[in-house]
Amino acid sequence: MKKLPCTVVTGAFWGDEGKGKIVSYLALNDQLDVCVRTGSVNAAHTVWYEGKRYALQMVPAAFLNEKCRLLLGIGANVHVAKFLEEVKVTNVKERIGIDRQASILEEKHSIQDKTSAHLKGIGTTGWGVGPAIEERVRRTAKLAEDIPELQPYLTDVTREINEAIDKGKKVLLEGTQGLMLSLFHGTYPYVTGRDTSASAICSEAGVGPTKIDNVLVVFKAFMTRVGAGSLPGELTTEEAQKRGWFEMAAGTGRERRSAPFNFELARRAVMINSATQAALTKLDILYPQCKGAKNYDELPEEAKQFTKEIEKQIGIPVVLIGTGPEASDIVDRRK
Ligand code: IMP
Ligand code: MG
Repeated sequence: MKKLPCTVVTGAFWGDEGKGKIVSYLALNDQLDVCVRTGSVNAAHTVWYEGKRYALQMVPAAFLNEKCRLLLGIGANVHVAKFLEEVKVTNVKERIGIDRQASILEEKHSIQDKTSAHLKGIGTTGWGVGPAIEERVRRTAKLAEDIPELQPYLTDVTREINEAIDKGKKVLLEGTQGLMLSLFHGTYPYVTGRDTSASAICSEAGVGPTKIDNVLVVFKAFMTRVGAGSLPGELTTEEAQKRGWFEMAAGTGRERRSAPFNFELARRAVMINSATQAALTKLDILYPQCKGAKNYDELPEEAKQFTKEIEKQIGIPVVLIGTGPEASDIVDRRK
């Protein structure tokens, strides 16, 4: 069978695993031809490049590669102002496209998100993504094709991706959030408004399962969560600060709760995503001697043991290891 060069990148836990960093590295290193972002503005994907930080909520994290075509899939929920702002900041006007039938996030959705009592209890990001999805389900959603400012960007993303894959181009589907925030597979009702698994990412992009040859699931070396809902092994804020695990959310500036890596959840993430490869980010936060390492041999013994234990427990190889915030701070074991 023909080897299909299409990869899905998906988060294992509650988002913020470092998908932005992994996608930006792959964009440059693997010379991606096409990157499709799914989901919406509730997710911020952080990319660091040459000392500059981008917290992307609309533009695909592969934008660093100037030859890469950037797309928002048919299942995406587009925030028009945020999209236009990020297109300017990243200077991608000539190479970004939105599917005509993607839904639009409206001001009223954000208001509903912030004022509905039941959503307040979930601790949503307040961008209105859940209410916009409800609108889509009611069959009354505004679509990208209805928005005058988006006309220059409209395209048939589904066709573009499928043709690119058929031509053997390197395509990456960029998932948002993580499996534990999935509407189906996550910690319901403390979840986001859509399925975040690899299959759902394919569906949102318009690609069938037989066209995927690689599912890369991204783990952070410890777990974090923003908003309400269970977090097994949760540390106190004080303990998180002591360990250097304390983080603020890139999108909302809220505090992230944290906990040690959980093998049982990790195995579940591999199973449900039918993952073939894993990435492990922020290993330098657990083991500071890893900082900036580019070769596996440079890692301290403890860090290697931790990586080996993860591989043993999840049954797939850890091929990429994040050792710092820059796109290039990575140990690439595929080489
Ligand atoms: P919503 O996606 O804004 O509806 O929020 C639902 C839940 O998902 C809340 O707990 C949010 O904090 C969480 N959430 C949504 N997007 C992200 C993300 O990108 N990273 C981390 N948490 C997220
Ligand atoms: Mg994030």
